[in-house]
Amino acid sequence: MGYKLEGSVAVVTGAGRGIGKAVALGLANKKVKVVIADLMLEEAEKVVKEIEQMGGEALAVRVDVSQDEDAKALADKILARFGRVDIVVNNAGICPITPLEDISSEEWDRVLAVNLKGAYLIIRAMLPSMKKQGWGRIVNIASVAGKMGAMVAGLHYTASKGGIIAMGKVLARHCAPYGITVNTVCPGPTATEMTVNWTEEEMARLTRNIPLGRYGAMEEIAAGVLYLVSEEAAWVTGECLDINGGLWMD
Ligand SMILES: NC(=O)c1ccc[n+]([C@@H]2O[C@H](COP(=O)([O-])OP(=O)(O)OC[C@H]3O[C@@H](n4cnc5c(N)ncnc54)[C@H](O)[C@@H]3O)[C@@H](O)[C@H]2O)c1
Repeated sequence: MGYKLEGSVAVVTGAGRGIGKAVALGLANKKVKVVIADLMLEEAEKVVKEIEQMGGEALAVRVDVSQDEDAKALADKILARFGRVDIVVNNAGICPITPLEDISSEEWDRVLAVNLKGAYLIIRAMLPSMKKQGWGRIVNIASVAGKMGAMVAGLHYTASKGGIIAMGKVLARHCAPYGITVNTVCPGPTATEMTVNWTEEEMARLTRNIPLGRYGAMEEIAAGVLYLVSEEAAWVTGECLDINGGLWMD
């Protein structure tokens, strides 16, 4: 169908560490050129070095996904360097665990701006060039929280991830005529910097509800993303892929 993963160009937001980094390394391993877009430029540059050491090609860009001008500048930089963008992985996210009744209005707005609006702004900035070329792959990282309601993370986090899941369905219908698939990955609790400070009690609360009895590894989440951007997933769109050890089944 004219799509080949090797040699294509991907942008992964929040790829300076954690799940995003695992996705970026996985893509680079498949000879995809990867743009590491992160708020933390130094971390992004370290990932670029790692990819270059693997013999791959990558570019670090500092971006705050909640800012429209950053999203537009990111698209310009990618097109200037690579001339195209084929794969967009919206992974950047923040996860405060503030108790429900203590969330300030500012904190609510920030979580929604990064986790939900950010994904929209990045997609909107990348769509014109993807539409022109007539195909592409978009994967948004939501969370099991968006399906079952978080057991540790904040209410605003749950709301943002539920929004990502719903948005993915509309986007999938909108993008299909242009040969662009849009899918969502819903990770369960995964060992990253995001969860590293959770208390033993908080971790136990989750783990005892996970049939497979442990947290996920970031590479296990990346594997789902790699499938959804692959040639083999050409007929998969509007899907929400659960990778959660059985914590939530639907
Ligand atoms: N770790 C988990 O248990 C888990 C579970 C379900 C879903 N997720 C989701 O997976 C994604 C990645 O999570 P992680 O665990 O790797 O987190 P992480 O905190 O380790 O990494 C998040 C990355 O996003 C970047 N980032 C944060 N705000 C940004 C912004 N405004 N603009 C650009 N980059 C920004 C950070 O700098 C960081 O590099 C998130 O969307 C998260 O909600 C994580």
